Amino acid sequence: MKNIAILCSGGDVSGMNPAIKHFVEYTIKKELTPYFVYDGYEGLIDNNIQKASYKDVSGIINRGGTIIGSARSKRFFDKKYRKIAKENLDKLNINMLVVLGGDGSFRGLDIFYKEHGVRFSAIPSTIDNDINETQYCLGVDSALNIIKNSIDAIRDTASSFRRAFIIETMGRECGYLALVSHLTSGSELCLIPEKKYDLKLFKNEFKKEIKNGRKYFIVVVSEGIKQDLSEIAQWFEDEIGIEARVSVLGHIQRGGNPSSYDRLMAYKFITYAVNSLLDKKDETIVCYTKKGFEYKSLDAITRFPHKLDEELISLL
Ligand code: F6P
Repeated sequence: MKNIAILCSGGDVSGMNPAIKHFVEYTIKKELTPYFVYDGYEGLIDNNIQKASYKDVSGIINRGGTIIGSARSKRFFDKKYRKIAKENLDKLNINMLVVLGGDGSFRGLDIFYKEHGVRFSAIPSTIDNDINETQYCLGVDSALNIIKNSIDAIRDTASSFRRAFIIETMGRECGYLALVSHLTSGSELCLIPEKKYDLKLFKNEFKKEIKNGRKYFIVVVSEGIKQDLSEIAQWFEDEIGIEARVSVLGHIQRGGNPSSYDRLMAYKFITYAVNSLLDKKDETIVCYTKKGFEYKSLDAITRFPHKLDEELISLL
């Protein structure tokens, strides 16, 4: 069978469209017929699958999101819907899938393979960068750039108004986005779920800094910490004596123009994913490691809970 399909599952990332574009171009070059599955596994179940051509992907490399849509499908975790999905793929003679998503999306895929033998190659794609065995997930660099620009902009108003800003990044239980943004934006404090903190320990230092002329504080906080951000703002007002505001960056972190790095990584991830299927590998996750690109099994990436890189944490 020479038909191959691509789908996006879970939270969209900026970088999916460059990946979709290269998928179409590369598979045609390799004499395969590319298909799009719309809206993730939902599209597999609802038979929302269409043949793709060059025309579909022209002018999309600069667009965030995904032109084929994404979803978090609950139905795909139900056996009866996976059977329908398989029947829909059979009607189109598709037996190869490239899936962009997070590890939750890969679990469903693995069950699908074990039940129905649909071969797949999956590409870690989540701004959270919280998948084991890969140092990089598609979309992370674009999200970091959005956060960097946002913090730079907030710094302008923070310094003009002599305020503390508590800025929340996404990341679920993983502090990667917050930590890297802290290190690259020169913020005064970073709070992540992976490291215990006690605000009291910063009091003397921050008060001394104000005395010495500091006009503002930037605090980068990961959404996974357990404390309410308004409490942290209140602490700055009560204990440090500086007016404070909370800014939750939210979904802007997932959108926007894909960075050059994400466009390049999209190109490489897709090349490795399609090659693995052409090389008759059945179920691979394409991971970017210290050694370069490697193929890993689902078991390897889900065996243990995700842990943030110790070296990165040590820089905090
Ligand atoms: O996993 C990606 C992510 O953007 C997380 O950082 C965030 O917690 C979550 O998705 C938001 O989900 P939703 O788009 O469903 O609100």
